[in-house]
Amino acid sequence: MGNAEKLTQDLKSLEKELQKKLAEALDEKDLENVSVEFLGKKGKLTHVLKALGTVSPEERGQIGKLANELKNALEENIESRRQNLLNDYYKKLAETEWYDTTILPPHFPCGFKTGNSAGHIHPIGFMQKKLEEIFTSMGFSIMDGPQVETDHNNFGTLNFTDDHPAREMQDTFYTEQDHLLRTHTSAVQIRGMKKLKPPMRMIAPGRVFRYEELDASHEHTFYQMEGMVIDRVVSVSNLLHLMHTLLEEIFQKHVEVRLRPGYFPFVEPGFELDMKCLICNGKGCPVCKQSGWSEVLPCGLVHPNVIQSGGLNPEEWQGAAFGLGLNRLVMMHYGIEDIRYFQNPDPAFLYQF
Ligand code: FA5
Repeated sequence: MGNAEKLTQDLKSLEKELQKKLAEALDEKDLENVSVEFLGKKGKLTHVLKALGTVSPEERGQIGKLANELKNALEENIESRRQNLLNDYYKKLAETEWYDTTILPPHFPCGFKTGNSAGHIHPIGFMQKKLEEIFTSMGFSIMDGPQVETDHNNFGTLNFTDDHPAREMQDTFYTEQDHLLRTHTSAVQIRGMKKLKPPMRMIAPGRVFRYEELDASHEHTFYQMEGMVIDRVVSVSNLLHLMHTLLEEIFQKHVEVRLRPGYFPFVEPGFELDMKCLICNGKGCPVCKQSGWSEVLPCGLVHPNVIQSGGLNPEEWQGAAFGLGLNRLVMMHYGIEDIRYFQNPDPAFLYQF
């Protein structure tokens, strides 16, 4: 047998040998070993090709072409075996390691005590759901808005001029080019007025951010729920009745509240509606800053400029709005004495509910 013929045969038998080894390979590591054994720098293919110098130039061209084809075939075979092994692996995994994602914790969604073995709804999420049920039963729509807002929606359209001192009441995280992390859910008011045709009622729950100094009742990231009613005639007594209904529905008992004048550029008149602090029962504690009252429900009648920014005629339409502090409401409901627990990842806190 001539050198060229022997080389050709050696190359062909390499392919057969590879098939055998591949069939024996059971995982990625075996495959890597086979790849190095056949295609590596010191591998079998290189070894066979070292003999190329012993054949004539014409034969060398032919054998070189054959060697290239073989190299491609070897690579393809290895890859295809790799895919088969992966498929087998996932098939086995699907048969042995699955769980039913549709199984709900025992008390979902009416209560959320599930013991320590399963996850459950966070108390703030739970309160949000409860409020959504109350408001949708009164004909309110639920609106959403972005957490990164324009300065215009967060402040401008709400009657805060650029140099308005009230901007300082809400220390702000600015991002870039007239954008910021929304400081209140009031930013959704304009979106709501533009999207829902009047007369309309909407709530907009969500996360808000402020550059705050933290204490028992102040977080940098917390939750609010905006509420807005637009109709031909809306009065302060309508607003107060709504606030009262809301609190009684949540607490299922008489709740002591007090009303004070409050200043927000987007309402006129504006009020602070405080609840008697249920952590200390009005005696004074760090949550209510020793005052006996917790600020939870600022509200007011929508300023005509805001109605106009929402694309409506203030001669024709009136509105009421409120901005519920969800974290503080949950604190009052469950007697949680520090707001920082909500973002603390300690499960011992969550398992209490
Ligand atoms: C506002 O954010 C107004 N947008 C509310 C409003 C809406 C008024 C519509 C009138 C009409 P204020 O900054 O007071 O207002 O925040 C509202 C509520 O959010 C507070 O009563 C309080 O319960 C809660 N809150 C405010 N700052 C914090 C904070 N740093 N941490 C936790 N809760 C807070």
